[in-house]
Amino acid sequence: MSRQLETLSLSVSYGDVVAVTDVSLQVSEGEVVALLGANGAGKSSILKAIMGMVHPKSGSVRVHGEDVTGQPAHTAARRGVALVPEGRRIFKRMTLRENLEVGGVTQPSSETNARMQEMFDLFPRLRERQHQLAGTLSGGEQQMLAIGRALMSKPTFLLMDEPSLGLAPLITAQVYEVVRRISRDLGIGGILVEQNVELALSVADRGYVMSRGRIVLSGTADFLVRSPALHQAYLGMS
Ligand SMILES: Nc1ncnc2c1ncn2[C@@H]1O[C@H](COP(=O)(O)OP(=O)(O)OP(=O)(O)O)[C@@H](O)[C@H]1O
Ligand SMILES: [Mg+2]
Repeated sequence: MSRQLETLSLSVSYGDVVAVTDVSLQVSEGEVVALLGANGAGKSSILKAIMGMVHPKSGSVRVHGEDVTGQPAHTAARRGVALVPEGRRIFKRMTLRENLEVGGVTQPSSETNARMQEMFDLFPRLRERQHQLAGTLSGGEQQMLAIGRALMSKPTFLLMDEPSLGLAPLITAQVYEVVRRISRDLGIGGILVEQNVELALSVADRGYVMSRGRIVLSGTADFLVRSPALHQAYLGMS
């Protein structure tokens, strides 16, 4: 059985709006793949379809070879897939600690504390602030919390939607160091949606470039960084 998350000929529409057309991609455990493309290219829609938050028009989503297409989002954690959503979506009126607890509800409660300590080891800034209301955290801390909350469910695959958005370079570097460790040390497979191409390809093993709902280019990170077609797709020229 393949230890992979994959989409096969996935298409997503919202009414008459076609967002994703015929997208096939794979990520293996311990690997990071970047999903790149200009605004509106369809990146978030792919992550939502994988999570079961939108129903694909056609095509399928498989986790370890098992077809999970269209299964509801609340079962995603049980399948081993977690999402760090665009805009973080932390629970602002709950404390940092309570946010992490919510992330871990699918796991045995006896393990919550130990798992939380692992999150604090990964993000030491979060440990000091565990009783603070999440809405009062800085943008960088909220992003760390969003990643920590997703990791509480012990995912095999982590989908990250623009984790560096709005963060200062120093904080971005800290967040990305953790993204590296998530794959290297925890063996998690990551799909990383990112506007910053160089940044994404500095941590990714491979990447897919989207334009207007389709994959127009894919390959190793080394190949993509040197590819002129990547920059064209980004500017919406292809
Ligand atoms: N709920 C929705 N209803 C209607 N159209 C939608 C909806 N969500 C997304 N779309 C459309 O689908 C297309 C793809 O959107 P999507 O959010 O997947 O792009 P994206 O690549 O994540 O863009 P960005 O980089 O700006 O986040 C866009 O044209 C968008 O307007
Ligand atoms: Mg998006």
